[in-house]
Amino acid sequence: MLSTVERNDGVATSEIDPFSRAFLSDPYPFHEQLREAGPIVRLTRYGVWAVARYEQVHPLLNNWQTFGSGGGVGISNFHKEKNWRPPSLLLETDPPKHTQTRSVMNRVLSPPNLKKLRDGFYQDAVRLLDRALELGSFDAVAELAQPYPLKVFPDAVGLAPDGRERLLAYGDMVFNTMGPKNEFYDAAMSKAAEVMPWVTQRCERSALRPGSLGQEVYKAADAGDVTHAEAALLVRSFLSAGVDTTIYALGNAILCFASNPEQWQRLRQDPTKVRAAFEEIMRFETPFQAFFRTTTQATEIAGVPIEADEKIYVSVGAANRDPRKWDDPERFDITRKTVGHVGFGAGIHACVGQMIARIEVEMMLTAMVERVASIELTGTPERLLHNTLRATTKLPVRMTPV
Ligand code: HEM
Repeated sequence: MLSTVERNDGVATSEIDPFSRAFLSDPYPFHEQLREAGPIVRLTRYGVWAVARYEQVHPLLNNWQTFGSGGGVGISNFHKEKNWRPPSLLLETDPPKHTQTRSVMNRVLSPPNLKKLRDGFYQDAVRLLDRALELGSFDAVAELAQPYPLKVFPDAVGLAPDGRERLLAYGDMVFNTMGPKNEFYDAAMSKAAEVMPWVTQRCERSALRPGSLGQEVYKAADAGDVTHAEAALLVRSFLSAGVDTTIYALGNAILCFASNPEQWQRLRQDPTKVRAAFEEIMRFETPFQAFFRTTTQATEIAGVPIEADEKIYVSVGAANRDPRKWDDPERFDITRKTVGHVGFGAGIHACVGQMIARIEVEMMLTAMVERVASIELTGTPERLLHNTLRATTKLPVRMTPV
């Protein structure tokens, strides 16, 4: 049984637990239930609201005035509970502060700064892929999806090479603690004492390579655009939001092609579709499945009154497969028009790192298109059970070289 849906006073309520093992193992049937229950649903288990239809999700993300991020983008309400870390100056902050920090990050991640990274990313992709292809059959998470972003992204931010596995533990903390205090939350936080001081130290100016993106953030502080203490927190944003997400997106990409070999052949026939293919991957297997907003004032959604300071679960994963928006949404199709997918969010908080993530994945897929004739699964992929991210932890594949 998935759940019961009831209506009281015209309001749909559901017992669905979006943080349960059943939901996280296979969210799609639950997404459908949430979408079908109504435009907005009360999740009785947690006393929060949920939106899963594209028609509600997209405008909500574009209305930061009413649906704020300052109360945190997880289930915990920072107005009522203290968070385990100082809030992010981007993700967990509203304007006017957000406008200031975001403009600094937009400049640091400007197209000319990112263009410089492409060649190096491509070379690292080729090196890792050639090594994997020598193995023939391998775990695509261990050989490609994890080591590649863990090399190129922290290099770009300016981190020294040692201890980078701690970034995985840190990302796990950041994203799993957006859920309730369940087994996934506790497991992620068990490494906090070891990881937090390391992350804080690595965000210091003296720890960052000259010429890196991290140093660019400190230059903005020298220019007076933010304080030096804020610069450290902005560098932390790179490390919080930029590692796991990209690793999981790349793993999802390889899984999509291994499970849909005809789509891989399509991409090989027309390699100019690499970027479009990534957008379809983001829609189809959305890595950052859901996050929250907090109402800043009393409002309504689809005629349902919502009080101020209420938490709303926003399922971008469900919106990205909403049949009201997408034709045949359960089909992975790299030729689909994906404009408007919400895999990187939308509105003022839309992912600030989306261009660098695109370059990372594009360079790996390009290297693969050039070198890999076919990809097949050689075993059952193992799913990650995670409060907010969707990914595989093991992806046994055989890649046949061209
Ligand atoms: C494929 C990989 C990625 C995915 C799926 C992803 C997803 C997202 C999503 C959905 C949001 C919006 C959250 C919200 O509205 O509350 C977001 C925001 C953000 N992302 Fe990404 N992201 C990715 C890669 C990156 C990278 C590489 C970086 C680092 C440069 C990054 C940094 C951020 C930051 C700092 C924010 C907060 C932006 C703001 O609030 O203004 N992300 N990301």
